[in-house]
Amino acid sequence: MCGIVGYTGTTKAARILLDGLERLEYRGYDSAGICVSDGNREHPLQAWKVKGRLQALRDATGNGEQVPGFSGIGHTRWATHGEPNTENAHPHLSGGGKVAVVHNGIIENYQELRQKLEGKGYVFQSETDTETIAHLLNEYDKGDPIDAIVRTVMHLRGSFALGILFEDRPGEVYGVRRDSPLIAAVSDEGAFIASDVPAILPYTRKVTYLDNMEIVCLHKDGLTFYNMDGEPIEKEFTTVSWDVEAAEKGGYAHFMLKEIHEQPKALEDTIRPHIQDGKLVLSELGMTDDEIRGIRRIQMAACGSAWHVCMTAKYIFERLARIPVDVDLASEFRYRDPVLEEGTLLMVVSQSGETADSLAALRYGKAQGMLSLAIVNVVGSSIAREADRVFYTAAGPEIAVATTKAYSAQLAACYMLAMHFGLVRKVMAEEDYLRHITALSRLPEQIEQILQQEARMQWLAGKYANTRDAFFIGRGLDYASVLEGALKLKEISYIHAEAYAAGELKHGTISLIEKGSMVMSVATQHDLLEKEISNMVEVHARGATLLAVTYDGNYAMEDQADFTIYIPKTEDVFYPSLVVVPLQLLAYYVSLARGIDVDKPRNLAKSVTVE
Ligand code: M6R
Repeated sequence: MCGIVGYTGTTKAARILLDGLERLEYRGYDSAGICVSDGNREHPLQAWKVKGRLQALRDATGNGEQVPGFSGIGHTRWATHGEPNTENAHPHLSGGGKVAVVHNGIIENYQELRQKLEGKGYVFQSETDTETIAHLLNEYDKGDPIDAIVRTVMHLRGSFALGILFEDRPGEVYGVRRDSPLIAAVSDEGAFIASDVPAILPYTRKVTYLDNMEIVCLHKDGLTFYNMDGEPIEKEFTTVSWDVEAAEKGGYAHFMLKEIHEQPKALEDTIRPHIQDGKLVLSELGMTDDEIRGIRRIQMAACGSAWHVCMTAKYIFERLARIPVDVDLASEFRYRDPVLEEGTLLMVVSQSGETADSLAALRYGKAQGMLSLAIVNVVGSSIAREADRVFYTAAGPEIAVATTKAYSAQLAACYMLAMHFGLVRKVMAEEDYLRHITALSRLPEQIEQILQQEARMQWLAGKYANTRDAFFIGRGLDYASVLEGALKLKEISYIHAEAYAAGELKHGTISLIEKGSMVMSVATQHDLLEKEISNMVEVHARGATLLAVTYDGNYAMEDQADFTIYIPKTEDVFYPSLVVVPLQLLAYYVSLARGIDVDKPRNLAKSVTVE
């Protein structure tokens, strides 16, 4: 979703803003702009805006060289209010250039504010909610920028992270946030604000995460933070554990391919620190054995692929820890007035830790008195900070819109939690527990083996790249896996893809199967194998092209499937971690064959910070 960069310092700002925005491109956007302050001009604030890719902004500004000035703000916009065009692109200016604003989030009461401002004579140039903020700042600016910001944000309903320039404060950049992320950092080069860490990584790894309703001022001597009373406050800085290389492509054609290949490491880094002397150690989680024994039910909530992790985790927790699990889409959870019994553990899963609906689900559950546990990848993100307990996955920065390594790391976290809960609650025999730890530890090397089939997957993708409809079927845990397989394919290839519990096909969907339909069957669960094969026979008989994923040695699959992909053998419960890899590769190579921008599929954003 929208990306913000702000900078003031000793280097010309435009180039730093453009480079920073480029490193936030993964968030998804459809227009871009910068505004740089130059005290030598009659009107110090000047904006450059384009529709489309950042390259157009580079072209319009001579790669930033034609833009003088040492402080500025930049923005990549993912359209919400008003179509993606130059007028609606940020920054938005007010008062003929008195104030400039970039914004991530949604202002819910913008129409009401707009009417009032129009009544006072303000003329709007765009259809955006953001422009109201620029005019409000102008209205309240009586020479004290902190006061103007406080007064302005007090009138805003909704979510926002803002970067702000005032005409009469050259060399200063302001930031403030509520429910949309904003970080601040300082280096020898100057001071920065940004929506996410990659933007500032070439300059520093020391960052601080603004809390809701905190203000930061970037100036020539560094950073000053304020609360809503306008009082200066101290902030702690943390050192980001990954470096700039981790957020670059490293020789791969796309981030997605790089991240698929990083899965063995992501799993290793997520699992290894928690295994000591052959046993799981989850003391960092801070959950006591009594707390774990007291869990009567788990309520999970997440969005997109993280929701698929929850769907898989339902089987895992119920099987290994014998705890009943309910799974909700985070966007639905709080609106259905759920019945939440005492002893329910709320689990929220999120790579970014900033997904608006997941954050809202967490807040809702906490407000109902539930103990909350978050599985999060981004350290210091909102969900990580607000949850009672946090399990950090160690996938490293994930840039591609289509999640791969973060999904795998989230699954690994669920396995560990379920096994630990199962042992503490004495429903998992010690010998099963140890066997499962061995299987878990082998996943990275088994994924490595699957990755060696990449050329076969590329060939297969080329063969089916023109498919119009794809159906992914599976039973039990395989059903949870195909949900992710179908999403991967559709989000980056634009092929219509649906996932079904195989047994559900004949209750309606089978009428869609015809010659040319592609059906991908995942069959790894021993007790469900025969039933899955029956469902495969049914679709094959109706003319579908049938692909299958199964474990090594299950050659019976080849009687039905036109093409079979084999994965290494493991305990049944761990197959989701292996199955997903060929499905990711298939989606990647189909997208490539169709000439789609794999890392930035249309209309999508990496981090969905609006509801
Ligand atoms: O950052 P989160 O894990 O909370 O993101 C959730 C979804 O937006 C995300 O998984 C999305 O579905 C991906 N595009 C899937 O590849």
